[in-house]
Amino acid sequence: MKILLIHGPNLNMLGRREPSIYGSTTLAEIDAAVRARAEAAGATLLALQSNHEGALIDFLQAEGWDADGIIINPGALTHYGLALRDALASLAAPIVEVHLSNVYKREPFRHTSVIAPVAAGQIAGLGWRGYLLALEWLLGNS
Ligand code: DQA
Repeated sequence: MKILLIHGPNLNMLGRREPSIYGSTTLAEIDAAVRARAEAAGATLLALQSNHEGALIDFLQAEGWDADGIIINPGALTHYGLALRDALASLAAPIVEVHLSNVYKREPFRHTSVIAPVAAGQIAGLGWRGYLLALEWLLGNS
């Protein structure tokens, strides 16, 4: 089983970036936790963070076709990233959209996701553990 874990713009700054909103866990710690759980379940995890929408799309085009599940926190691309949405929509793998913060308690522009309509589901507001919950769902879905 092949799982993709994708992080959009500014998520490389986790731990330093607005910790009162996003927590103090770093991206490397999140990737390690998700990778450990995936590997314990016999799955392979490929992780990528980029600040560039095109790099995320290149990764999806290269690795998405034979993926069995995709976990993605698109960062602010959630709210306007139509090219990223189209790339995700072209793939068969189930997609779980994850947000560290509860975007629905925040500014109105964060209440709209252009990714949600092409995702199986969304987890928001549960911090870094949201990624593990997304993985558990994908593992149980296979
Ligand atoms: C975020 C929420 C987005 O609105 C924001 O632009 C992010 C992080 C989250 O994980 O809560 O970069 O996706």
